[in-house]
Amino acid sequence: MRIVVGITGASGAVYAYALINALHRLSVDIEMVASDMGWRVLDFECGLSRSDLANFGNIHENDDLFAPISSGSYRCDGMVVAPCSMNTLGAMANGIGDTLLLRAASVMLKERRPLVAVTRETPLNLIQIENMARLARAGGCVMPASPGFYTKPTEIWQLVGGMVGRLLDSLGIVNDVAPRWQGAR
Ligand SMILES: Cc1cc2nc3c(=O)[nH]c(=O)nc-3n(C[C@H](O)[C@H](O)[C@H](O)COP(=O)(O)O)c2cc1C
Repeated sequence: MRIVVGITGASGAVYAYALINALHRLSVDIEMVASDMGWRVLDFECGLSRSDLANFGNIHENDDLFAPISSGSYRCDGMVVAPCSMNTLGAMANGIGDTLLLRAASVMLKERRPLVAVTRETPLNLIQIENMARLARAGGCVMPASPGFYTKPTEIWQLVGGMVGRLLDSLGIVNDVAPRWQGAR
């Protein structure tokens, strides 16, 4: 299996890192691409740089539209944009493909492959809400970075893991990253 992970400049860079770790543990091939702000927020929030991600898979330049993930002919099983800024959400929802990240997302939609956007912003303005609806209508899956508390987490990594488990589920990847609801007990 091969998954594209796009990282943008929204808060919540830890979701990208945790997702990449989980995919790697599950032996999924990972193609990574980050916006400039994606790299900057990853560094700011997590103290991570591209060298910290290099061992997990291929890292592409966001201006390299010649990269394989730019084409629908390249075999890929889905893409997660985590975290997904409102800027990138708007671009994806409106068919813009002038960066590798956006082009790869557009390819997922046209090829009818899973495209998951882990959006992060609050509160939302109407344009952002409409962009979410637009992306969903085009076949994308909007999964706001909004972890559940019903597993009674006591640590941040449990909250993050809860999101990662649901992301893997949405890609159809069998996993036991997070506890599953078994009813109230
Ligand atoms: C520390 C920090 C946190 C940010 N958090 C968010 C956020 O949660 N959501 C969002 O939409 N933008 C956020 N931004 C603003 C985006 O980085 C900005 O809109 C940028 O243009 C996004 O570019 P990109 O979509 O190419 O990554 C944040 C910026 C900084 C510096």
